Order: sequence, then structure tokens, then C-alpha cells
Amino acid sequence: MSVDVAREGAVAVVTIDRPDALNALDVATLTELRDRLGELAGDDAVRALVLTGAGEKAFVAGADIKYMSGLDPEQAKAWGALGHEAGRLLETMPKPTIAAVNGFALGGGCELALACDVRYASSRAKLGQPEINLGIVPGWGGTQRLARVCGIGVAKELIFTGRTVDAEEALRIGLVNAVADPVLERALETARALAAKSPVALSLAKRLCNLALGVDHAGGLGTEAAEFGELFASEDAKEGLTAFVEKREPNFAGR
Ligand code: COA
Repeated sequence: MSVDVAREGAVAVVTIDRPDALNALDVATLTELRDRLGELAGDDAVRALVLTGAGEKAFVAGADIKYMSGLDPEQAKAWGALGHEAGRLLETMPKPTIAAVNGFALGGGCELALACDVRYASSRAKLGQPEINLGIVPGWGGTQRLARVCGIGVAKELIFTGRTVDAEEALRIGLVNAVADPVLERALETARALAAKSPVALSLAKRLCNLALGVDHAGGLGTEAAEFGELFASEDAKEGLTAFVEKREPNFAGR
């Protein structure tokens, strides 16, 4: 099992554990994550959820690039949809979700963190949306949620350049709420405090705050999901993804 769920009273800690790939999400891991999140969403005994990655180095280093390098547009759409399901569960489940970003949170990892209600980072964390360097775009909600969390100017710069930010910059641009070591302890502290509050009021607070995301958030996510898949028909997507797998620089033809 590459997704571990531990309970501490009313707090659930979900740990993504795929050490040989820096916790990058393949189909099995992402499916398991989606399923576990679905169960925890409906479990009234769970009042707050913490999401983290196993080990010292990574939260989640992204979607599995080796897997993505073989996808056609239809498969890419299904892959994007699975990531969207996990993100929507984190964003809409009627209890607070907290990301403890304990290392690399890149691509899909940053997107999962963005789908959480609160984000804390360890001082060694690195976050970003480097998909552009693979000839693709964020496909699990990043194009919509990064702008909502950090503002459109920051989101465009990070998504267009694909550069990563360290914990200090992430705090400055509002991508994380705080930097703390050990980050899991900080996340648990908040989760325990939230678990002691009224779950009725907290779930309403979450639902109302989500309204601030704008009337057509779901529409934006739908467009991203469709276009992300279509992009896998491009030569540049094949080249960018394959180049990573072959450990070389990509040579984009512009098609
Ligand atoms: N998908 C698949 N495998 C991944 C991965 C991903 N997103 N990220 C890391 N890995 C694998 C590496 O291929 C490597 O496996 P290998 O030993 O079988 O070759 C292993 O995890 C360790 O990664 P490595 O690159 O050797 O570690 P590093 O410390 O030198 O670099 C990163 C760490 C995170 C900077 C680098 O792995 C990276 O750039 N990963 C891709 C990040 C990314 O673009 N994510 C967005 C995807 S949408």
C-alpha cells in the first residue's frame, strides 16, 4: 500500500509513501489516495485531515512522468480526471484539510497542496508547477487554484516559467500559511485545534469560504481537464515527457 492512513483521535493523517519515486503519484497510488480521501470525507469520526509525504525529501514530486510519457489524449484526460477527483475531495470535504509540505511539492504535488484548505511547509520544502518544462500544463487544478491562492500575476509567472520556490518565498507569496519544523507537528497542532471546534460551524465556514473561489470555479477546472488531455496529442508533450524519462534536455519543435 502506498497511501497510509493513521488516526490520532479525530485527526486523520494521510501519508503518500512511494519512496523510490519521491512519492510521485502513479495510477495505483493516486487511485488509492482518491479512495481513502472519499472514505475519510464521509467518516464523521474524522474532524480534520492532514496530508503529507513519507520520508525527509518529498511531499509529492508530481504526477508520475514515466507513466505520463506513454499517454494518448484520451488516457491523459482520464488521468487528469483522477487527479481532479482527489483535489475536489480535499477542497470540498466537510472538514478542514491541511497539507504538511515536508519537501518537494512539484506539479501534481503542489496541486494537491493547493486543494487543501491550509498549507504548512518545512524550511527545506520546494514548491512549483514545472509542467511547462515537460511541454505540458498543470492538469490537476493548478491553473485555477494557484491564481486563487496567490493571485493571477504570481500564478502566471510560476506556471509560465516552471520555476520552483523555496519555503521562504512560498510564505512571502502566500502559497503556504507558515514555515515550521517539524512541519507535520505544526500541521497536527492546527488539526487538533480544529478537531475540537464545532464540526457543524467548521463545515459551513469551509463551504462559505469556497464560495469566494468564484462562481465558475468548476467550469475553469472542467476546461483545464479537457485541454490538458488534448495537449498530449502534441509532439512537444511527447518530447518533454520522454526527455525527462531519458534523463536529457527536451528539444521542443513547437508542434
Ligand atoms: N515522476 C516519476 N518519477 C519521478 C518523479 C516524477 N514526477 N520525480 C522524481 N522521480 C523519480 C526519478 O526519476 C528518480 O528515479 P530513478 O532513480 O529511477 O531515476 C527518483 O524519483 C529520484 O529522483 P531524482 O531526480 O534522482 O532526485 P533529485 O534529488 O536529483 O531531484 C527532483 C529531485 C524533484 C528535482 C527531480 O526528481 C524532478 O525534477 N522531478 C520531476 C518533478 C516534476 O517535473 N514534477 C511535475 C510532474 S507533472
